[in-house]
Amino acid sequence: MTNMRYQKETDPMIKINATKGHRHAKNALLCLGLAAGLALNGCSSSSLYSLRDLWEWMGRGTETLYHMQDYEGQGQDNFFTPGARWRDTDGNLIQAHGGQVQQMLVPDENGDMVTRYVWVGEDKNSGHLGNCVAVYTSEDLYHWEFRGDVLRSVKSREELDTDPYFQTVYAGYTDEQLDHVFECINTEAVIERPKMLHNEKTGKYVIWFHNDNLTEANPSYKYDVGMSGVAISDSPFGPFRFVDRYRLSHCPEGQIDCYPTSKGEARDMNLFKDTDGTGYVVYTSENNKTLYISKLNEEYTYLCTDPEKAVYGVDYIRLFPGAMREAPALAKGDDGRYYLISSSTTGWMSNQARMWSADTIFGNWQNDGNPCVGADAGITFDSQSTCLFRAENGQWIYCGDRWNGDELYDSRYIWLPVTFEDGRATIQWKETWEW
Ligand code: GAL
Repeated sequence: MTNMRYQKETDPMIKINATKGHRHAKNALLCLGLAAGLALNGCSSSSLYSLRDLWEWMGRGTETLYHMQDYEGQGQDNFFTPGARWRDTDGNLIQAHGGQVQQMLVPDENGDMVTRYVWVGEDKNSGHLGNCVAVYTSEDLYHWEFRGDVLRSVKSREELDTDPYFQTVYAGYTDEQLDHVFECINTEAVIERPKMLHNEKTGKYVIWFHNDNLTEANPSYKYDVGMSGVAISDSPFGPFRFVDRYRLSHCPEGQIDCYPTSKGEARDMNLFKDTDGTGYVVYTSENNKTLYISKLNEEYTYLCTDPEKAVYGVDYIRLFPGAMREAPALAKGDDGRYYLISSSTTGWMSNQARMWSADTIFGNWQNDGNPCVGADAGITFDSQSTCLFRAENGQWIYCGDRWNGDELYDSRYIWLPVTFEDGRATIQWKETWEW
């Protein structure tokens, strides 16, 4: 297939259009800002991680930016074509950004349980805010059937009382609870990075997502609430009912909190189900400076222990304080080792991925560096991590988002094979490939 990954800087779809002068000025400002931030936040011991990431991004990112190429064909002819537009079986652009892919038991049209790949993600047809959560299914990972917007954002408080869909989903909710639903998942809210787990004990499907908005204290910052939202359904195809949103575990006494003024923040997040069925939420906290992993309760609807009572090392851990990692994705390799990929924090722009690995979830995480190799490995092949999963034949797959900040619905999917050797993961670029 034609290589159309690069286009000229004059392309109107260019993701960032910075002249060299602007770029240097911007870089200098960023450096100053970051240095000041680090000096103030009391977390300087690990600050080298973030400085190094920023440097990498400054040095390479603006030079080698990919643009939103105008080409189609991902999934066609049973090939992955990373970066090409990917359409569902109805011909519409797949809307499952910041998503998660997994094999899962789902009901077929007769109600019998069958194994399918399930892809859950943000429906960015609404732009940045108020995204519904979409679900797609596939038998081969190339062709995806849209199964609906399974968790819907709410246009107005009245809609919850008058729209038959919402009346059914939220039957039994008090007025006060409905006010809260509207406050959390209205069309001006941040609803990002949704992930789903099937709970075998309760039979329920549970979605966690990053739920955010501005606050009275900070009316210009859409990410000030900093919480994880939880929704539940009897079916992976919804409708999902919003339950609540939460701040999560926070820095214990005796450790250096990188953002002590706002405890338990939870922004970019992911879910992970271990082989023994234990569920975990991985989230970026402390003003995006520190990742956390917290154990879920048996129903997967909340943490196993309330943050105020949670025991460090038993119920949760903090990872890489001050490293400024987000977009986490956790997986257990065939070797039984845990692998955690993440990005740095540059909004819709790509930066360098990093992998950590550990023998046990709450054990010692080893920094394995950048898993990407080859050209453009420094910007994760212009993508941001969102999922690591294993296909039926044992092939591990990295899923990343190539965000198009101007037209978010036309952001692309970068799926690449992951290989593991001696406890290290490697991701290499492929123009086209099949699993
Ligand atoms: C990214 C994050 C995305 C989205 C974006 C908004 O850093 O990973 O999920 O929140 O910022 O700028």
